[in-house]
Amino acid sequence: MENPDQLRADTLRDIGAAASPEALESIRIAVLGRRGSLSLAMRGLGELSPDERRTAGAALNTVKDDITAALAEAGERLGRAARDARLATERADVTLPVSIGAPGGAEPGRIHPISQTIDEIIAIFGEMGFTVAEGPHIEDDFHNFTALNIPPEHPARQEHDTFYLPPRDDGSRMVLRTHTSPVQIRTMLAQKPPLRIIVPGRTFRADHDATHSPMFHQVEGLVIDRTTHMGHLKGCLIEFCRAFFDVDDLPVRFRPSYFPFTEPSAEVDIGCSRSGGELKIGAGADWLEILGSGMVHPQVLRNCGIDPAEYQGFAFGMGIERVAMLKYGIPDLRTMYDSDLRWLRHYGFVPLDIPSPVRGAL
Ligand code: PHE
Repeated sequence: MENPDQLRADTLRDIGAAASPEALESIRIAVLGRRGSLSLAMRGLGELSPDERRTAGAALNTVKDDITAALAEAGERLGRAARDARLATERADVTLPVSIGAPGGAEPGRIHPISQTIDEIIAIFGEMGFTVAEGPHIEDDFHNFTALNIPPEHPARQEHDTFYLPPRDDGSRMVLRTHTSPVQIRTMLAQKPPLRIIVPGRTFRADHDATHSPMFHQVEGLVIDRTTHMGHLKGCLIEFCRAFFDVDDLPVRFRPSYFPFTEPSAEVDIGCSRSGGELKIGAGADWLEILGSGMVHPQVLRNCGIDPAEYQGFAFGMGIERVAMLKYGIPDLRTMYDSDLRWLRHYGFVPLDIPSPVRGAL
C-alpha cells in the first residue's frame, strides 16, 4: 500500500491543479471511489493485526478527511470561476444604442395603431390651438345624456346600446359613457369660454361585429367663442381630414344630419373610390362617412351656464378605430384587441415615429 502521507500529498497537489469540476470529479473517483486507492487501502486494513489496524486506520481516516475537505473547497472555487466566466460572456452594456432591426439586435416594441392614430389627431388639432381634455369612463345620466339635450324618453338613448351599472341607493344608474360628448359638458361647467378642446378616449356600446366593438375609442372636439360659426366648423374639419389622410385635394362633404346636442348638425364624408374592389381615399365616385358634427345646441350651452346670446360654438365626434382602419388598411376591427404580436409587428409603429405635422409624417 502507498504510504498515507504520500497519498495525501499527491492527491492534494492534484486537487490544487484541477482546472475544471470534471477534473476534480475524476480525482475523487480515483481516490475515494469504490475502487479508489484510499478505499482499497481501507479495505486492506482487515489483514493487519488489531494494534497495527488501529494506528493505520486512524492515519487513513485523517487522510480521508483532509482530501474530502480539499475536494469541497476546490469544488467551490471552480464553481465560482465558472460562474464568473459565464457572467463575463453575458455582460450587456445597457448604455449602448439599440440597433433596431439589425441582425441579433434588440426587437423594438411597437406602438399600437390606435395610440398612433390618437397621437396623429392630437398633433393636427394641437397645431390649430386645441388642448386635450379627458373625463371618466363611468358617467352619470346627466353628463352622458340629459345635459346633452337627450331627455329621459328620447329615442337616442336606445340607439346608444348603453351599458348600465346596477342601480344606486337612490335608484339612479351610472353608465359606461356611450360617447366622449359628456366631456364637452364637464369642460363647459368647469371652465369659462373661449374653449378649444379635443377629447380622445374610450367609449362603450353593446355592439359587436367586424366593424363594432363593445369598447372603442372616439375623439370629441369642442370650440366655444363669441363669433364662432358654421364656416369655422367646415374649415377646421376640412383641414383636419386633408392633413390626417395626407391628401391635399381630398373632397370633403357636409351632409345634413341630426344630433340632439347640435343644431344644425352635419355628418362629414370624405371622397374615395372603390373601383377594382380596392378602397382608395381621395377624389372618386364614392363617399365615406367619418365624422358627426354641428353647432352646439343653445339648450346645451344653457345647461352648462353659458349664455347662447353671447357665446356659440361647434362640436364634432369621430370613431378612432374607423379612421385608423381606413388610413392603414386594417380590414377587421376585432384584430385590434387580439394582442397578437404578429399583428402588432405588422400594423404597429416604431416608437420614435412620433407624429408631428412639421415632420410631414402625417
Ligand atoms: N357623440 C356623437 C356620437 O357618438 C358624435 C358627435 C359629437 C356628433 C359631437 C356631433 C357633435 O355619435
